[in-house]
Amino acid sequence: MRIGVPRETTAGERRVGLVPESVTRLKKAGVDVRVQRGAGTSAYVTDEAYAAAGARLVDDASAVFGDCDVICKVQRPSPAESALVREGALLISLLQPSSSADTLAALNARRVTALALERVPRITRAQSMDILSSQATVAGYKAVLLAATHTSKLLPMLTTAAGNIPPAKAFVVGAGVAGLMAIATARRLGAVVSGYDVRAAAREQVLSLGATFIGPEPQADAEAAGGYAREQTEEEKAKTLAALAAHVTTQDLIITTAQIPGRPAPRIITAEMVHSMRPGTVLIDMAAETGGNCELTVAGEVVDVNGVTIVGAVNLPSSTPYHASVMFSKNVLTLLQHMIKDGALGLNLEDEIIGPMCVAHDGASRA
Ligand code: NAI
Repeated sequence: MRIGVPRETTAGERRVGLVPESVTRLKKAGVDVRVQRGAGTSAYVTDEAYAAAGARLVDDASAVFGDCDVICKVQRPSPAESALVREGALLISLLQPSSSADTLAALNARRVTALALERVPRITRAQSMDILSSQATVAGYKAVLLAATHTSKLLPMLTTAAGNIPPAKAFVVGAGVAGLMAIATARRLGAVVSGYDVRAAAREQVLSLGATFIGPEPQADAEAAGGYAREQTEEEKAKTLAALAAHVTTQDLIITTAQIPGRPAPRIITAEMVHSMRPGTVLIDMAAETGGNCELTVAGEVVDVNGVTIVGAVNLPSSTPYHASVMFSKNVLTLLQHMIKDGALGLNLEDEIIGPMCVAHDGASRA
């Protein structure tokens, strides 16, 4: 069996699907690995490191897509790349299935089996394969560093000969994987941190990290299937806005991470709230790609609204490409190890992990 790792072609993507350490493990499991030259360059992983791990390097993408049994990559392939994939091969990548009709059509034309990494089920057995968690961890960390870079303030409390500096105040909205990492990182940098989430379990986690919990008491039924949040009712939304409106006027850094799977991001920070913030406040909107938690967010841009800086953060994991790739690769390796038996691929679409991830098989898309 041969696994291929092409160079990513999506604009701004710096990660790579498998790192050399995973190649070594796959070789030990009796699998050959083919890597497109330069695939790891933007994550500072060299061709030499892949070669030392036992991978065969090739120049052209077509020698990877067209000549491997399994393709591992980060972003969904373009329709043109999909058309290169060998008939009947397996593709493992992010796929954004609901907005990838062209890619899925091209994959189905080649009877490719496609596993969408964003569909790894949120069950204990699959935790080590969960790229949403690993990449959200990186993103939550990076969001705080971005906020720290944009703010005109220092984060920790300082007592110096030049005077005393009070700690910065950071508020994290949405305390899932990314939000909890943001809370922990902001605390490590010395900020006084508060958090908010609609789920009761998240409230406990916010408190356990030493942050205070702001906002209405989470409802017991706010958690839907898979531990995700459900959308709030209009009445709940109004309560949230009222509770957060006063709090945001006192903050230096605000990091928003709230998401509802399959839906646009909930609007939590209104334009009016932004206008009430102090000049110098920095808001990092990690939900920018799904519409933003802040009404004034522009995805991929930094906007200034009367001295409030709003960063529409896009693909934050790619901005920490080395460790994001290492973690991504470990997730993919664990998924591969789950399927590989005696150097051969055992694809079981009835499997509780593989089944939900499969979005295309044998010429047809699957829901
Ligand atoms: P996510 O990225 O979908 O959402 C981020 C956070 O936004 C969530 O905590 C959610 O409750 C919150 N949120 C949604 N609407 C909100 C609103 N209006 N106001 C404030 N906050 C709002 O979620 P993520 O971070 O991917 O994980 C969510 C859940 O999945 C958690 O329960 C986590 O424990 C669970 N999980 C389970 C795993 C496993 O068992 N393998 C792995 C990773 C996470």
